[in-house]
Amino acid sequence: MQTIKLGKNGPEISVIGFGAWGISGRDWGKTDDSTSKKAIHSALDKGISFIDTADVYGFGHSERLIAEVLKERNSTQKPVIATKAGNNFYPFLEKSFDSTPANPDYSKKHLIFAAEQSLKRLNTESLDILQLHSPTTDLLEKDEPWEALEILKKTGKIKHVGWSVQSFKETEQAHILDRHSDLIDVIQVRYNLLEREAEKVLFPKALKYGTGVIVRIPLLFGLLSGKFSKNTLFSSTDHRQLNLSPEKLQNYLETLSKYDSFFEKHKHYSKAQLSLKFCISHPACHVVIPGIKTEKQAFENVVAGTISDIYFTDFFV
Ligand SMILES: NC(=O)c1ccc[n+]([C@@H]2O[C@H](COP(=O)([O-])OP(=O)(O)OC[C@H]3O[C@@H](n4cnc5c(N)ncnc54)[C@H](OP(=O)(O)O)[C@@H]3O)[C@@H](O)[C@H]2O)c1
Repeated sequence: MQTIKLGKNGPEISVIGFGAWGISGRDWGKTDDSTSKKAIHSALDKGISFIDTADVYGFGHSERLIAEVLKERNSTQKPVIATKAGNNFYPFLEKSFDSTPANPDYSKKHLIFAAEQSLKRLNTESLDILQLHSPTTDLLEKDEPWEALEILKKTGKIKHVGWSVQSFKETEQAHILDRHSDLIDVIQVRYNLLEREAEKVLFPKALKYGTGVIVRIPLLFGLLSGKFSKNTLFSSTDHRQLNLSPEKLQNYLETLSKYDSFFEKHKHYSKAQLSLKFCISHPACHVVIPGIKTEKQAFENVVAGTISDIYFTDFFV
């Protein structure tokens, strides 16, 4: 597995990470915790040293599962864990939800409280990376979220400051990096073969400032593995019922068919592996964090971090 420094201020990590939303037990339908824990163990055994999660994933469940796995491993070699805050789920803790309700709160008070709760769940003294969880542009324009992150860094409660850029606002929000490039160590961006808006303005700025770039949704929720057809239907508790609705699926699959000859030419790798390698081949991108639910997916996805015979240079001209 190749490793890389996550931007000029970031830690050294594997180029393939573990996205831990899908194992949270919410938004993706029912999950089995023992299967999820095996997936995390396998990923770490195979050299993954970076995990992305959020406080709100399963209302703390994703963070707790990660902490349980690390306790079971009892190893001094710990992965770097990036978490997120800003969606205040605490008022809903006693209620039952299949999907995560939105309740944005980027106030200083809430962000500091949220970081302290994540520290407890992850059983650590200092969070490796804390990311603002995709705030809207008006919230990013306020000073409070940034002041909170500054305080958390100064007091040692977080090691690195991160900002998860809102999906489909990559260009609209790019100026935030100009304003806060001294504070932001890492950004997280939606980016994959079919969704490349970030290349226009955001990635050049990240390269200019030496910002670490984490790529999310690299498999377009599994679609880029090639396993879905236009007739695929998702359960009512799976967010893909909306995010990969029949109309969206049809459009994405039509665009994807342009790459048929590329996938055919390199068919010694799976479509998922090639799609992951595409993301980390962009010069601005450091790590890709596919959501991984099973050992099988862990085994398949880590291979993308060893591909050294495909460069994607034609894709970026
Ligand atoms: N706003 C934010 O900050 C934000 C938003 C979204 C995601 N994220 C982060 O980014 C991570 C990645 O995004 P994502 O999980 O939404 O989408 P993704 O990585 O594009 O897709 C993940 C899903 O694809 C399927 N899959 C994974 N590997 C596969 C393989 N080799 N072959 C076939 N199917 C495979 C799995 O679902 P099935 O097996 O059920 O098909 C998995 O849950 C998240 O886990 C989370 O950490 C952050």
